[in-house]
Amino acid sequence: MSNNLKVLLTGGCGYIGSHTAVELMRAGHDVVIADDLVNSSRSVLPRIEELGGRKPAFYEIDVCDMEKLDGLFAAEKPDAVIHFAGLKCVPESVEKPTLYYRNNLLSTMNLLEVMAAHGVKYIVFSSSATVYGESDVMPLREDMPTGACTNPYGMTKHMSEVIIRDTARARKELGAVLLRYFNPIGADESGRIGEDPLGIPNNLLPYVAQFAAGRRERLFVNGNDYPTRDGTCIRDFIHVTDLAKAHVKALDFIVGRSGCEVFNIGTGNGYSVLEVIEAFSKACGRELKYEFAPRRAGDIPTCYADPSKAERLLGWKAERGLAQMCEDTWRWQSANPMGYEK
Ligand code: WQD
Repeated sequence: MSNNLKVLLTGGCGYIGSHTAVELMRAGHDVVIADDLVNSSRSVLPRIEELGGRKPAFYEIDVCDMEKLDGLFAAEKPDAVIHFAGLKCVPESVEKPTLYYRNNLLSTMNLLEVMAAHGVKYIVFSSSATVYGESDVMPLREDMPTGACTNPYGMTKHMSEVIIRDTARARKELGAVLLRYFNPIGADESGRIGEDPLGIPNNLLPYVAQFAAGRRERLFVNGNDYPTRDGTCIRDFIHVTDLAKAHVKALDFIVGRSGCEVFNIGTGNGYSVLEVIEAFSKACGRELKYEFAPRRAGDIPTCYADPSKAERLLGWKAERGLAQMCEDTWRWQSANPMGYEK
């Protein structure tokens, strides 16, 4: 059990980063946030302080800027790093692959080199189930094949995993944990922080929440002819607070260890698009009218985790179900209909 670490969160103003900052503080750690605010808002910072009970140090920097990153390490001397920073829009990665490869891989390589230069030995990396590609064997286990990703975003996550794994082989004292997120949704139960994507949300839940709040005109279900129990896609939706707590457990695990370990962070359950819309209708107190639309390119019918390795080695297990994920999301969205002040 590690306590009172100083943890650097790259991309810590983002959706998962901000929730992790709060859970780290609640567990007794100090937090330093580096974020270029390209896909987040600094107005999350006072809310992190409000919920975490202390002020995070904040640096508005691009992790690709080696000089600025080195200056931050010299000033803050973090004990560990959680690397969230990265571009994450799947359709955009298809349109602009070199932007994604440059940004997501350079930031990871910069971080690893600056960590070595400053003797920082521990990194937790924000990876994604997308590294498994279009597997039709479910549930997904960490020893299953990765790398046949269906888009450049997924490839950057896979390649970052390879870079970190190889670096852990070369730098014997490095301890690394790769967390493969499934589908993070929900918000802190306070309703004070939550998901606030720029523009029209690509992902299901933020779109449904904005539709329920009257920000979107129509709600489309992409495909109803999949080989699933109700014809719509099934995903392993996991509450962002459970996900954030997994990062605290990952730090407890890796501090004092070396090498590289990978974990699926999911619930092990799958919910369909229609089941999510029904659960959100209950949470917001009215029936959400949807329309069927054609399948979305790249979607696979079913994807869910075998999270038993994380339970066994991290002592972590998701605790929150779909109803709470929707209730907590609605509390955030209805209290912040336009998200954070930009
Ligand atoms: C889920 C299902 C949609 C919106 C993505 C990324 C993955 C990770 C998580 C970053 C699909 C359907 C959606 C809508 C709909 N992101 N849908 N109407 O595709 O499983 O994963 O987010 O790491 O890398 O690929 O999640 O929420 O986008 O879609 O019917 O308005 O909901 O077609 O079937 P996905 P999603």
